[in-house]
Amino acid sequence: MPNHQTIATPLNIVAVSGGLNSPSKTESLIQAILDELSEAISIKVHFIKLSEIGPLLGGAIYRNQLPQRVQDDLAAVEAADALIVGTPVYRASFTGLFKHFFDFVEQTALVDVPVLLAASGGSDRHALVLEHQLRPLFSFFQAQTLPIGVYATDRDFTPEYTVKSEQLSDRVTLAVARALPILEWAPAKGQRAAATRAKTEQANQNLGINKQIEQADVLPSAAVPDLDAAESRLHPKPQKNLNHVA
Ligand SMILES: Cc1cc2nc3c(=O)[nH]c(=O)nc-3n(C[C@H](O)[C@H](O)[C@H](O)COP(=O)(O)O)c2cc1C
Repeated sequence: MPNHQTIATPLNIVAVSGGLNSPSKTESLIQAILDELSEAISIKVHFIKLSEIGPLLGGAIYRNQLPQRVQDDLAAVEAADALIVGTPVYRASFTGLFKHFFDFVEQTALVDVPVLLAASGGSDRHALVLEHQLRPLFSFFQAQTLPIGVYATDRDFTPEYTVKSEQLSDRVTLAVARALPILEWAPAKGQRAAATRAKTEQANQNLGINKQIEQADVLPSAAVPDLDAAESRLHPKPQKNLNHVA
């Protein structure tokens, strides 16, 4: 795996699992991705598990009805440098509580945020849940869904729900390797917390999930380099002699 220690401050990674069981294959899968990522770069992790908070949010339709713990989790999602999200497949989609959680997320807070998609299901035939259910949800948020997602089935896990299959481990490695160049440009690297605080406060105060949120200007992609800078990484240009007067 390439050395990406060029990322100086730890990336603020928030993981969300839609699994409702404990233990959970989805949680194990996300943990495997986090472990792989932490070998490559320095990360700080906040892991939100619907198996823990699901019962706390099921009955709420307004964000200010949520217990503080769930409000804090939503604020963490909105302030993340990057997200790793995973869900078991339930009836060919994400779990209802996974969606219910994201229904509370402020709708412009994830603009440009890299999101790695993962899912576990009982059947190989539902692997496209990543593309047909998860990717559109995070496209709605104008997030930057990462190119490679990870799908696992029951066969990939030991009875203790640790990752067993080599194919799944390889897929995790590939997903993380492909994520790294994008994470390197992750917006603002730790500055998102300040940038999104106002949005979190606004969402906490007034808005229920049934009410349209007016879309003001979207968050700027702070710290994302301009195209010239990106291009110069591919085709370095000779330094100009600034002392030279034409
Ligand atoms: C209510 C329910 C619905 C499910 N629907 C599907 C499905 O449509 N397709 C599929 O492949 N697996 C389905 N499964 C199997 C789970 O997705 C699979 O066992 C998953 O790995 C469980 O993850 P967990 O251990 O994190 O709960 C379903 C399981 C449950 C409980």
